[in-house]
Formats: sequence, structure tokens, C-alpha cells
Amino acid sequence: MATTVLVIEDERSSQMMLRELLEQEGYSVQIVETGEDALASVNDDPPDLVICDLLLPKMDGYEVCRRLKASHATRFIPIVVVTGLAELQQRLDALDAGADDILTKPVNPLEVIARIRGLVRNRSLTLELESAQNVVFALATAIEQKDSYTEGHGERVGMFSRSLAEHLGLSQTDILAVQTGGLLHDVGKIGCPDAILNKPGPLTRDEFEVIKRHPVAGWEICRHLKSLGDATLHCIRNHHERLDGSGYPDSLTSGEIPLTTRITTICDVFDALATARAYKPAFPLETCYKILREESERGWWDKELVRAFIDMMGERELFKPAKRAVLKPLFERPAP
Ligand SMILES: [Fe+2]
Repeated sequence: MATTVLVIEDERSSQMMLRELLEQEGYSVQIVETGEDALASVNDDPPDLVICDLLLPKMDGYEVCRRLKASHATRFIPIVVVTGLAELQQRLDALDAGADDILTKPVNPLEVIARIRGLVRNRSLTLELESAQNVVFALATAIEQKDSYTEGHGERVGMFSRSLAEHLGLSQTDILAVQTGGLLHDVGKIGCPDAILNKPGPLTRDEFEVIKRHPVAGWEICRHLKSLGDATLHCIRNHHERLDGSGYPDSLTSGEIPLTTRITTICDVFDALATARAYKPAFPLETCYKILREESERGWWDKELVRAFIDMMGERELFKPAKRAVLKPLFERPAP
């Protein structure tokens, strides 16, 4: 199928020149004259690339860029701005509004085609990457939905992790890494039999060994996703490590566990304590905090981080205790 290009241009001569040039190269071209018509057209039939003039009647090209980049559905469509405006500030404003590239009128036909080819190639790589990533995210959700006790667990761990990273003033890169790490941390449970995952009683030693494989299994699934950075992959593989080296799978000790992974771990432990599981009831918040403090005294968790987590939870009121009555009996079992 031909690559589709939407041209937003109100000058007849530019319209004709771009149509001729693009059609010669085998692109399928649609031309609209206003920003409003462009948004409607993208909505109905998203193109592979948008070429946009900056000076348009009513909604200008900057606003078109902003709106297309603000929408989840259209943010990956590359936008080339074609403008007669030579001022540096106007060009910077266009990039700020979300333009992927800028060409100055009168455009050089060879340059237009070269830039478009590059952007379309990047877009198809991004889409491939995104669809691979979506499969893994869907997998993580599917695993939780097998069991009503863990439904929403990854999303909550991601949300707590993000909030704690923000509370600590970490960089945007780290904030996103822990949020994604939290969301995907248990994806390796896809390989654990339901009978073990949902067992209401204590696990045998062999069953626990099976559960212990999930961090490495999750890391194996995710490590090929180029969009996940090292920090996120570390959260997935090492969210069951303890500072004293008694965790798994790598028996890492405090200096070997990055802050981002320690954040995910504390948020995971908290959510497991605060929600009902097949083998335990939901504990009240104060009990969860008491257990986290006791376990940090024992050398498992980072004391300062536990303190920061409890402060953050108090400030943001992120957790609403479940309304559902807890009917399952409490069994002694280490939280997997
Ligand atoms: Fe886990």
C-alpha cells in the first residue's frame, strides 16, 4: 500500500508543487487548506506523514502540531513543517510545538523527498517497537487477570514507584523506568502454573523454587525490547533482592542494588501486604508500614527509602483500602 501524506497548505502554487513532487515518488497525497480540516482528516484516516504550513487561516500550524503530538493516537505521525518564515525563533517554536523537521520555502524537491523517506522509515520502526512493547504490556495485564487477587497489582506498583521517584526528586528518565518496571515486574509469572500462583496454603519448597524463577523469566521476555532501559530491566529481574543478600535470583547486596530497583521492591512488598491474596488478608495501612519498618530493621529493605515511602503515601493518599471483606484465612507463607 502507498505511503499516505497529508498536506496542510492554503497556497495553490505550493499545493500543486507538493502534489506533483510526492505523487511522482509514489506517495498517495491528500490536501486540506485549514488546521481544522487537517485534524478531522487525521482523525478519520491517519496518514503516514503530515506536511504542514505554519501560516494558516484560523488554527495555525503550531497549534496543529501541538494537537497531533498531544494525542496518543496521532503522536507518532511525523510532521514536516514547510515555512517561509526564516526567523530562528519561529523555527524553534515549531520544533517546540512538536514538528519533527522544518523545510524553508522555496523547498528543494530532493531535500523534501530525502527528509520524508527518513521520517517514514523511523515511524515504521517506532510502530514495530510499540507493537512489540504492547504485546508485553498486554501479557502483564493478562497474568494479573487470571487471579482476582492480583488484578491491578502491576499498575499500582508502577504508580507507587512513579510517585516515590517523584517524591525523591529523581530524573524523568528514572521516574519512567520505575513506573514501567513496576508495571512489568511480575510478567515472568506467565511461566508459573496457576495451581502454584493461586494456592491458598503454604508452598512446598519445590513450589517456591518454581515461583522464584519468575524474575529471570520476566527479564528474558523483556530484555529484547529496545525501548526498555537497563534500569527497568533491572527492576524486573531483581525486584526480590534484599539488601542483606538473602533475596533472589542473584543474591545481590545493598551496594549492588540500584535505587530504582529498591524503589520497585518496596512498592511491590507494600502492595502485597496492603491487598488480599489467596494466602493472606489485606492488612491495614499501619500494619503494612510496621512490617516494612521491621523488615528494614532486619536488613531486608532500605530504611531511608521505607521512611520516604511512608511520608509520600501520607502526603499523596494514594492507597484506598479495598471495600471487599477479607474471608480467606491467614496462612504463613513468604510473599513471592
Ligand atoms: Fe515478583
